[in-house]
Amino acid sequence: MSKLRIAVQKSGRLNEDSMKILKDIGISIDNGKDQLKASARNFPVEVFYLRNGDIPQYLKDGVVDVAIIGENVLIEKGKDIRIAEKLGFSTCRVCIAVPKSMGYNGIKDLEGKRIATSYPNTVQDYLDKNGVKSNLHIINGSVEIAPNIGLADAICDIVSSGSTLFKNNLKEVETILKSEAVLAVSPVLTEEKEAILSKIQFRIKSVLKGRQSKYILLNAPNDKLQDIINVLPGMKSPTVLPLAEDGWSSVHSVINKNEFWDVIDELKNNGAQGILVCPIEKMVL
Ligand code: PRP
Repeated sequence: MSKLRIAVQKSGRLNEDSMKILKDIGISIDNGKDQLKASARNFPVEVFYLRNGDIPQYLKDGVVDVAIIGENVLIEKGKDIRIAEKLGFSTCRVCIAVPKSMGYNGIKDLEGKRIATSYPNTVQDYLDKNGVKSNLHIINGSVEIAPNIGLADAICDIVSSGSTLFKNNLKEVETILKSEAVLAVSPVLTEEKEAILSKIQFRIKSVLKGRQSKYILLNAPNDKLQDIINVLPGMKSPTVLPLAEDGWSSVHSVINKNEFWDVIDELKNNGAQGILVCPIEKMVL
């Protein structure tokens, strides 16, 4: 039986979360940080540890079948490659930044300026769309230093927390795109491998849904039960079980983790007690 070859970033910001999601979907891999590839023990999968920038080409050539990669890299180097799932981690944005001291009124201010970047295609597209002509200087790594050493007037790079821009006295002036880790698919995939991929996608969806949700348990006075149920959406409807004490019920439900604090206030106002909120590992709908 053939194995699905999954590329992950060898080192860098995506590596840890990529390995975590593989583990969470039940694919156990011996720690392979110093290896080029490793086989999963319990699933027809091989993991290839590759340099981020090389992955789009490997996907195009079918050297690997799928990859966990930043959408930003895909947009820069592999625009036509299909995205099977957005994975919700490693969020960042590709931005243009200029020195804090530079006055900036809009993209036209970049006309004739030198922009240092590791994202030449992305930034060139953006400049073309805005009818601006600048000179691009392609640099791999430490792009933010370029204005400080007189190499460029502006930069285009990924920004996550913004601390690298801050440390280099730069300010963000244009957001070109927003990005997160995605599961990308080679255009040349056999039917047999598509079948493995669809199993993986099913598992990923369950894990991501679980990460988005919390399991909530609480005790409710029976005369307030309906009000409490009304603020709990649940997967279908909340589970209600009688407590040993007369007049009280235990209510179980699932809520979106972002709604948690809003819902909690409403529940307390309606007389809920002993509220427990637990993480959910996987959620199969
Ligand atoms: C990226 C990018 C910036 C930094 C931005 O580098 O090139 O330097 O992260 O992140 P921040 O907004 O949280 O400071 P990364 O650390 O991924 O390594 P790289 O230099 O190899 O690209």
